[in-house]
Amino acid sequence: MQTKPELDASYWSNRYQQKETGWDAGFITTPLEAYINQLASKDMAILIPGCGHGHEAEYLHKQGFTNVYIMDFAPEPLERFKSRNPNFEAEHLLQQDFFAETHFTFDLILEQTFFCALPKEMRPDYARRMFELLKPGGKLVGVLFSEEFETQGPPFGGTPPEYQAYFEPYFTFKVFEPCHNSIPPRQGREWFMILERRSKPQFIA
Ligand SMILES: C[S@@+](CC[C@H](N)C(=O)[O-])C[C@H]1O[C@@H](n2cnc3c(N)ncnc32)[C@H](O)[C@@H]1O
Repeated sequence: MQTKPELDASYWSNRYQQKETGWDAGFITTPLEAYINQLASKDMAILIPGCGHGHEAEYLHKQGFTNVYIMDFAPEPLERFKSRNPNFEAEHLLQQDFFAETHFTFDLILEQTFFCALPKEMRPDYARRMFELLKPGGKLVGVLFSEEFETQGPPFGGTPPEYQAYFEPYFTFKVFEPCHNSIPPRQGREWFMILERRSKPQFIA
């Protein structure tokens, strides 16, 4: 499946060029920071898709994580990331569509305002693609908005039961609950998830 033309790479590039990046907290957010701080293994393969300016990757890099990849189909945020982090492995900057084929698989994928940027009809594909990109037992961790928005997206909102239906075939739910340590503008508006990839998809007939 391809991303809708109206939300394609040129749409997002344009947003970066116009500096219309209201989603960007400007730093790693507290839920992701707290999760990363308790990780023991610094060489796990980590992907941050739809990374934008990549604050999570910068944080991981500074904490000594050595196997971190970032992915975005817009070139501007990757270029900015590169200039801020000249020692970050250049081959780990993936300028490509999340839905395009890759040969990489990961132990951990971090979600931060990427899911809500996709057209709603792509959500089942997002769940399936996350399954494909993770190793068996790998984890999808991050935050999702837990409310609908009145304004035309992106961002596109939603509800936890809706999200659960997308993820259930591919993941077991380790944590899926209201986020208790959101940044102030997002308090009470997002859920925190730790989903573990199943060894194979399970569809209930
Ligand atoms: C709302 S921004 C979030 C950026 C970053 N996660 C943050 O929190 O600042 C969504 C990002 O996803 C990227 N994106 C959207 N659809 C994509 C796709 N299909 N493949 C790769 N990147 C995509 C956009 O270019 C944009 O940088």
